[in-house]
Amino acid sequence: MNMMTRFLTGAATVLALSLPAHAAEYRIAVGDGAGGTQEALGKAFVAALEEKSGGNMTGKLFLNGQLGDEQDTVTAAATGTLDFSILAINNITPFSPSVGTMTLPYVILSLEDAEKLTQGDIGQQMIDQTIEDAGVRIIGWAYSGFRVLTNSKKPVSTVADLKDLVVRVPKNEIMIETYKSWGINPTPMAWGETFAALQQKVVDGQDNPYMTIYAMKFDEVQKHITNLRYIFSIEPLIVSESLFQSLSPEEQQQVLDAGKEATAFSAEFLRGEEAKIRDELVARGMDITEPAEGEKEFIELATNAVWPKFYDQIGGKDVLNNVLTSLGRDPV
Ligand code: MLT
Repeated sequence: MNMMTRFLTGAATVLALSLPAHAAEYRIAVGDGAGGTQEALGKAFVAALEEKSGGNMTGKLFLNGQLGDEQDTVTAAATGTLDFSILAINNITPFSPSVGTMTLPYVILSLEDAEKLTQGDIGQQMIDQTIEDAGVRIIGWAYSGFRVLTNSKKPVSTVADLKDLVVRVPKNEIMIETYKSWGINPTPMAWGETFAALQQKVVDGQDNPYMTIYAMKFDEVQKHITNLRYIFSIEPLIVSESLFQSLSPEEQQQVLDAGKEATAFSAEFLRGEEAKIRDELVARGMDITEPAEGEKEFIELATNAVWPKFYDQIGGKDVLNNVLTSLGRDPV
C-alpha cells in the first residue's frame, strides 16, 4: 500500500464512504497531471475536508489545467467563478509580487527551508498580502522539490552550455531575469502550452521539479536533466476569498484545518517519493548531469544580478533579509 492509499483509506474509514445528499462539492483546479505533488495535496485535502466537515464539504479535482491555465485560475478564483486551485507559486507572483521572495533564485535551499518559510510568521504575512493583492487565500502548500532543467539537445553542466538553447519559463519576471543573468533570453509561455511546445520543438527545454516532469510525462519529449537547485518549488492551494467569506466560522476552520493536514502530508509525500520518481525518469531514458563546481557560477550570476532587481517588488531589501535570517543565513 503506498503513502497516498494509506492516507486516503484512513480518511475513508472515518467517513464510512458516504456523503450527505446536501454535501457542497467544490471544484479544485489542478495545473499538473496525475502522479505529482499537486494531485497528492489535492486528494489529501479532499479526504481531510470530508472528514472534518462530517461529509458536508467535499471537492473534485480537475487535473491537467482542465479549468484553465494556472495564472488564469487565480483570476477565476478571485472573481468567484472558481472555488479552489493548486498551482505553482511562480504563477501567483504576477498577482501578488510580495510572494516573489519565494521564487527568488537560491533563497529556499531545502524542503526544511520551504516548510519553515511557508508555515511560520513570514508565510502568514504572505498569505495576508495575497488576500489583499489577489483576492485569494492560501490555505495549504504542496512541496515539489527543486526545479531542474530539462532539454532535448545536450547535457548541460555549465552556464556556457546554455548558449543556443531555447528554454521555456513561466510568465514570471524573476525567472526570466534569472535566465538572462545566465546569458540567454528565455521564452515565457503559459504552463498549459508547454508540453506541446516541447513536443513540436518550438522550445528545447524548460525547468520544473522531478515530480512535475513525471506527472506531465515530459520524459516523452525531453532527454537531458541538469540537477539545478535555483528554485525550490512550492505550490499553494488557494481558495476564492469570496467563497471563504461565505462560509460559517466553523466551516472556515474546517477548510483551514484540512489545508494544514494536507500540507503535512505533502511534505511526507515528497520525502517518500522524489528519489523513486527520479530513478523512474532515468529508467525511462533520461540522463542527469550535475552542474559544474557545485553550481557556483549559476549561483553567483543569479544572486548578484537578480536579487537587487526585485527588492522594490518584494517590499524592500529588508523583506529578503528577514527571510534569509529566519533561515539561518547571512543578510545581504
Ligand atoms: C510552471 O512551470 O508554470 C509551473 O511550475 C507548472 C506547475 O504548476 O507545475
